[in-house]
Amino acid sequence: MKRVQMRTFAKVLAVSAAAALALSACGRSSTTTPGAASTGSAAKSGFAANAVIGVALPQKTSENWVLAEGLFNKGLAAAGFSADVQFANGGVGEQQNQISSMVTKGAKVIVVGAIDGKQLGTQLQAAKDSGATVIAYDRLVLNTANVDYYAAFDNFKVGVLQGTALLDGMKAKKPNGPYNIELFAGSPDDANAQVFFNGAMSVLQPKITDGTLKVTSGQTAFNQVVTQGWKPENAQKRMDTLIAAHYGSTTLDGVLSPNDTLARAIITSVKQAGKAIPIVTGQDSEVESVKSIMKGEQYSTINKDTTKLVAETIKMIEALQKGDKPTVTDATSYNNGTKVVPADLLPPVIVTKDNAAAAYQGTSLEQYTK
Ligand code: BGC
Repeated sequence: MKRVQMRTFAKVLAVSAAAALALSACGRSSTTTPGAASTGSAAKSGFAANAVIGVALPQKTSENWVLAEGLFNKGLAAAGFSADVQFANGGVGEQQNQISSMVTKGAKVIVVGAIDGKQLGTQLQAAKDSGATVIAYDRLVLNTANVDYYAAFDNFKVGVLQGTALLDGMKAKKPNGPYNIELFAGSPDDANAQVFFNGAMSVLQPKITDGTLKVTSGQTAFNQVVTQGWKPENAQKRMDTLIAAHYGSTTLDGVLSPNDTLARAIITSVKQAGKAIPIVTGQDSEVESVKSIMKGEQYSTINKDTTKLVAETIKMIEALQKGDKPTVTDATSYNNGTKVVPADLLPPVIVTKDNAAAAYQGTSLEQYTK
């Protein structure tokens, strides 16, 4: 299997844990070459230093998106551009309209954090026809040739860190298994959700197979464990149902949660059921979750510093403005189903009680101690 075939496209679209294992077994990290030159085709002759730059963000499903809005507005203005930053809380149709409107306004670069990575084909074709460069931000855009770059954290690695934290946390509490766990994934329309899950399962599946881990409900397939719309109420409801059906007298040792908003919903469900809080993972270093980790409730989160990702994206835009090719770290691995998208990937950092105080996303650590 070729690397390009096996990586993100497979990661995004594969539905079996076996595929996830095949991916991890093939040694994906060897494909990353920091500082390697881009093979992107977008850079031509640059554009006006005060051009319109569109940023299409999804719904406010986690703090990182809200932070990104402010950072893009500030950073793009400071770089001299005219920023058009939009949220699409109304859903896919609203995001499609926003991107069309950015094209109409003559945006030279359109940065897209897609709600549904498969539903922007028409709008991105129009963007391309208008001469705009398209950067997928945080979430890869799928099945279109009209995406030039991808700026993100290494999402597979996020999942690997989550799976590892779940195991470490449970071992620290109870040195020997078997451990009873449940699995949660993000929203299936977000291309990242499958990647996080595959990363985590690359660590967890061998332990399920050897009996160290027992998924009591038996729900281990991605489509059985997804959380539509990344909505905490959906995760809470599912956890309520799982507890009622499977954890009468059985101890729940751990829960794989793909992000912080869902982790807190899972913890709420467990508390309301009067159960001891299991090891619960997360992602995003949200203020409430860092507080929860410091209190000893949520076990872990992942710091994906939004400040850095926005800064990196603006650096790409500045290069394009000058007519240069942006630097990317991985020019071979992110096949979106139609093309390999040159990617600039930042490393995610695991956060537990040990380093929680240092891992904050906001402007001041005081937020976490209030
Ligand atoms: C992001 C996560 C976030 C989730 C829900 C994902 O695409 O990568 O950081 O928690 O969306 O907003």
